[in-house]
Amino acid sequence: MLNSKDLLGLRNLSAEEISSILSLAADYKKKVLAGKKKFDLLSGRTLVTLFYENSTRTRTSFELAGKLLGAHEVNISASSSSVQKGETLIDTGKTLDALSTDFIAIRHPMAGAPHLLAKTVKASVLNGGDGMNEHPTQALLDMLTLKEEFGGLKGLKVAILGDIKHSRVAKSNAFGLKKMGAEVWVYAPKTLIPSEFEKLGAHVAHSREEAIEGANAVMGLRIQLERQSGGLFPSLSEYSTFYGVKDELLKGAAKGAIILHPGPVNRGIELTPSLIDGANSRIESQVTSGLCVRMAALTLLNEYREKHA
Ligand code: CP
Repeated sequence: MLNSKDLLGLRNLSAEEISSILSLAADYKKKVLAGKKKFDLLSGRTLVTLFYENSTRTRTSFELAGKLLGAHEVNISASSSSVQKGETLIDTGKTLDALSTDFIAIRHPMAGAPHLLAKTVKASVLNGGDGMNEHPTQALLDMLTLKEEFGGLKGLKVAILGDIKHSRVAKSNAFGLKKMGAEVWVYAPKTLIPSEFEKLGAHVAHSREEAIEGANAVMGLRIQLERQSGGLFPSLSEYSTFYGVKDELLKGAAKGAIILHPGPVNRGIELTPSLIDGANSRIESQVTSGLCVRMAALTLLNEYREKHA
């Protein structure tokens, strides 16, 4: 059950709402992995993916989620739309409303863009990542992957290493995991950790070892070269040497610790290739979780829409 027409972030989602998405997504994941590809719950509905930034995983899995659920699915890229002629986000939203769109999955470089769109349109808006703010379905898919591995989230320690400052994934995970009773530890060069991060309830570690000590999951985050305005760390090679996650560091983690990464990965920078491709990596499982979390979010938002029609 969801209590809003939109899914904009985990900051304002309750533990009960998160649980209901995870529980339905787990059910979908079992069925999808067993080969089921047709659900038809959104028959007659329309999903538009509206992406103003590049994406492989998020956009593809929103598109596939809509298709598996039986919705009409249309993809708009900002680079080939009337945005290039100066159309505003609100006017684009009004256009999509006039075309009887039910769901808009949006990624936008500006924090708060999905929230503005949600206030303007009748359609349900799903945030596929807004600037440095939130990426709620990514954190939900991380939580689903963790829950499958460990049976629950309460009491887990999750270490997140990488570009925390520019990361909407770190922020959504800090909000979501804390609500579900897990501990989040972060580590990065000081220039890549915003001072307010501890206020979100996360622990800021002083070393890679401290972050990883006893962790059930170690998540590498991509160094976002496109968001660096320069000078935040000396070079990629030094980042990898002093801040990257190496195989030997995992010795301090809890038994059975898993490796996560939202992708795309800079191989050998945030994580060694042997960790990315190793037995404890759940990076591919995260991608499947992403499809199922997005199916669950669309299903629950559709239920909300039917109830409040
Ligand atoms: N994790 C993630 O958001 O990946 P994409 O940029 O490929 O969507």
